Amino acid sequence: MSETMNGKARMFAVTSGKGGVGKTNVAVNLAVALAKSGARTLLVDCDMGVANAGILLGLNPSMTLADLLARHCELADIIVPGPCGIGLAAGHSGIGIGSTLSQAERVRLLKALETEAGDYDHVIVDTGAGIGAESMALVAAADRALIVLAPEPTAFMDAYALVKALAVGQGVSDFTVVTNLVESDQAGRALFDHFESVITRFLDVRLDHAGSIPEDPYVREAVRRKRCCMELFPSARASKAMTRVAARIAPAAPVAVRATMEAMHGAC
Ligand SMILES: Nc1ncnc2c1ncn2[C@@H]1O[C@H](COP(=O)(O)OP(=O)(O)OP(=O)(O)O)[C@@H](O)[C@H]1O
Ligand SMILES: [Mg+2]
Repeated sequence: MSETMNGKARMFAVTSGKGGVGKTNVAVNLAVALAKSGARTLLVDCDMGVANAGILLGLNPSMTLADLLARHCELADIIVPGPCGIGLAAGHSGIGIGSTLSQAERVRLLKALETEAGDYDHVIVDTGAGIGAESMALVAAADRALIVLAPEPTAFMDAYALVKALAVGQGVSDFTVVTNLVESDQAGRALFDHFESVITRFLDVRLDHAGSIPEDPYVREAVRRKRCCMELFPSARASKAMTRVAARIAPAAPVAVRATMEAMHGAC
C-alpha cells in the first residue's frame, strides 16, 4: 500500500491478540476523529466473524463486503456515508462470509482495498482478533499494524503472540500500539513500556505508542445508543483521547481541506 505522501491512503489495520479489548470502538472513533480533522477517511469492517462497526454508527447498509466477495459489485458500491463524512464499507456477520476466506476472496478483498484507497487519505480496517489468516493477511497488507492492548494478563500474552506471529510469519517489523481501557495516561504508558520491554527482548521489532484511551462509561453508553462516542459525546475523556491518538498517527489535513470538509459536513 502506498502512503499519504504519494497521494494514496495510509491504511491502518486495527487488530488485537484477544477479543473484546476495544478494536471496533477504537477503529470507529479513530475514523471519525480523522474525518473531523479534515482527512478523507474510509472505515472498512473486515471482521469476518462478527462485523459490527456499522452497528456502532447506527448504520445498516443493504450491501456489505459479502456482495463484493460474491462479485455482485465493487467496493465503491457498498460504501455509505457516516458521521463527519467518513465512508463505511460494512462487513457481514453470519451467513455469507465465513470467518475464513478462500485465497481468491482474500486477493479480491485486498485488491479492492488498494484500488479504493486512492480516493482517501486514510483507510481504517477493523479486523477480527487473534492470529486468524484473514486478520494476518490484512495486517501484512496494511501500511501500519495498530494493536489495541488492554490491561489484562490474557490480553498482554495474546498481544505478544500476535506480534510474534506477524513478525515471524508475515515479516511485519513496525507496530503502533493503542492502550485501551486504562485508568490513566500514566497507567497506559506503563503498560506499553512493559509490553515493549518484553517484546523487544525476544523479537526484532519496533513499537510506537500512539496513546491511551481511558475506560470511560460514555463509550459504553454510546454503544448502547448505537452511535460512536466521538459523535455523541465529543467532550468525553475517551473522545478527547481518540482525537489525540488520531493526531499522533496521522498528520493533520491542510487547513484548506478542513475548511472544505466543514463546509460539506458541518463542523461535526
Ligand atoms: N475505552 C473504553 N471505555 C469503556 N468501554 C469500552 C472502551 N473500549 C471498549 N469498551 C467496551 O468494551 C466492549 C468491547 O469493545 P469492542 O467491541 O470495541 O471490542 P473488540 O475488540 O472489537 O471485540 P471483538 O474482538 O469481539 O471484535 C464494548 O462493550 C465496549 O463498549
Ligand atoms: Mg470488534
